[in-house]
Amino acid sequence: MGRVQDKVAIVTGGSAGIGRACAITLAGEGASVAVTDVQDPEGDAVVAEINTAGGKAIYLHHDVTSEAEWQTVLEQILQEYKHLDILVNNAGIAISSPITQLSLEDFQRQNAVNLDGVFLGLKHCIPAMTESGGGSIINMSSVAGLKASPNLSAYSMTKGGVRLLSKSVARECIQANTNIRVNSVHPGIIQTAIWDKMGLIPGANTVDVDAIAKSTVPGGKLGFPEDIANGVLFLASDESSYMTGMELVIDHGFSA
Ligand SMILES: NC(=O)c1ccc[n+]([C@@H]2O[C@H](COP(=O)([O-])OP(=O)(O)OC[C@H]3O[C@@H](n4cnc5c(N)ncnc54)[C@H](O)[C@@H]3O)[C@@H](O)[C@H]2O)c1
Repeated sequence: MGRVQDKVAIVTGGSAGIGRACAITLAGEGASVAVTDVQDPEGDAVVAEINTAGGKAIYLHHDVTSEAEWQTVLEQILQEYKHLDILVNNAGIAISSPITQLSLEDFQRQNAVNLDGVFLGLKHCIPAMTESGGGSIINMSSVAGLKASPNLSAYSMTKGGVRLLSKSVARECIQANTNIRVNSVHPGIIQTAIWDKMGLIPGANTVDVDAIAKSTVPGGKLGFPEDIANGVLFLASDESSYMTGMELVIDHGFSA
């Protein structure tokens, strides 16, 4: 018996990085996983890896900023698996810029993926989960949602928003007797491609995440996607059944 045996999960942004690790980990513990993303070939590869290993997964194209795509994806999942038990609102982008140089377009794009995406996931999945008898929602925040950093104001704003949105909706779910738990996860410095895409070093194609971890994390220790996936697995499973409205910080003491 796996730790999330026969549960149905959706992992947004599941084609790469932390989302990919969450999808593989949940499937390895018995869940059927809908991997959704905008990077289709990479998502297909994650699903192939899960199915080859004997797990169950499907890939669905899904831009989390689109309400229509949330509705279609949910219909496809319910058609395939009949119920929904776990939502991992993981898709995210990070834009680094001094506030005075940040365009309104980038500010809104940052917000659209990281916060509109989580809002739409909550709005559309809670009714389906309630129908399924309850479930667990895990919203990917960040240590940046707990602690400020220069040049990451818009990103931090979205991640602080994810934290309080999660807590508020957790209380609402209790009040409405849904049997749905909602928690946020706060990764520290984790080795994924997000660092290369955030414009941290203007003009650079790659960022030395290991060097960033060495200079900022206690003990200099870099984290890996599996470190976060293990926390997500705990929150997704019934092992955390008394835990809701809380933040799980996985950062090797970065924010301590
Ligand atoms: N890597 C870190 O150090 C770190 C730290 C704290 C929090 N996080 C958070 O973890 C989550 C995953 O990030 P990651 O580090 O794995 O990054 P990543 O770039 O490796 O993966 C993010 C995934 O999200 C997808 N995505 C982006 N925009 C999307 C959209 N509009 N719709 C659907 N999918 C979309 C991307 O295609 C990609 O597959 C993010 O929410 C990020 O903010 C990461």
